[in-house]
Amino acid sequence: MQHTLLNNGLQMPMAGFGVFKVTDKDECRQSVLQAIRAGYRLIDTAAVYGNEDAVGEAVCEAISEGLCTREELFITSKLWVQDMANYAAAEAGIKASLEKSGLEYFDLYLLHQAMGDYFSAWRAMEDAYEAGSLKAIGVSNFYAHVLTNFCETVRIKPAVNQIELHPYHAQSDALKTMQHYNVQPEAWAPLGGGRHQPFDNEMLADIATAHNKSIAQVVLRWNIQRGVTVIPKSVHEERIQSNFDLWDFELSDEQMAQISELDLGYVGETIKHFEPDFVRGCLSVKIHD
Ligand SMILES: NC(=O)c1ccc[n+]([C@@H]2O[C@H](COP(=O)([O-])OP(=O)(O)OC[C@H]3O[C@@H](n4cnc5c(N)ncnc54)[C@H](OP(=O)(O)O)[C@@H]3O)[C@@H](O)[C@H]2O)c1
Repeated sequence: MQHTLLNNGLQMPMAGFGVFKVTDKDECRQSVLQAIRAGYRLIDTAAVYGNEDAVGEAVCEAISEGLCTREELFITSKLWVQDMANYAAAEAGIKASLEKSGLEYFDLYLLHQAMGDYFSAWRAMEDAYEAGSLKAIGVSNFYAHVLTNFCETVRIKPAVNQIELHPYHAQSDALKTMQHYNVQPEAWAPLGGGRHQPFDNEMLADIATAHNKSIAQVVLRWNIQRGVTVIPKSVHEERIQSNFDLWDFELSDEQMAQISELDLGYVGETIKHFEPDFVRGCLSVKIHD
């Protein structure tokens, strides 16, 4: 497996496992365990997914089974918008995430959205980072102009920005901004998130056949070769395993360019982060009283 060096000196795996929408606790625990057995070391959850506890249980089980040590794992969670109202709310939100997971620290903790008073929330994250309960801190869904202002303003720059990145929404401009500030890009929905039908695409099928790989592996590899960390989700053991089998082939420059031609730009984006209904919806989602 490849790693990337974050701007705070921490090594982060280039491929991990996402658990969005895996709401059944047992299914989540089992899937995370299967992922760790398959070799994944990065697990991506969030307070709003409601499964930080199941991830924490799987981590404990994996360690007690001798599959890995805590130090080898890279556990990520995210602060939900409700807890970005002010510094105290964020401080409590970080504490609640840690308590739910049963972990002493997160390797990476992200502001889930650029909503609410995210500057005050960031100050709470900076303090938790300095206290050692968050080993790295970052952001998610911070698009270029928001990220630029943020990086120019905050005391500790984000180590990671997790945004939607797949061949149909390639966001090369966003990647340039992240590169400028040495912020590691991480792809949510790296397989298209169940949209765009990459698995029916003939060009992707031809490239996959040429490498004796699956379309999913080709699409994930495309992001990795662009320097983007991927966190595919699956609840099927075979897919969990094959989505991590990414290290024994390399796409040519021509194949990389062919895949990049699928980019639909703005049209390929799933969520428009400026849409009033979306923002209002996020601001109204309560994960606790
Ligand atoms: N920060 C954010 O705002 C944000 C937003 C969305 C997601 N995320 C994170 O990113 C992770 C990944 O994103 P995502 O879950 O939306 O989308 P994704 O990983 O791109 O796609 C997941 C979908 O693809 C299917 N799938 C997985 N492997 C496959 C394969 N080899 N062949 C065919 N289908 C396959 C899965 O079905 P099965 O499960 O049935 O296999 C599921 O329907 C999330 O789990 C979460 O951790 C973050």
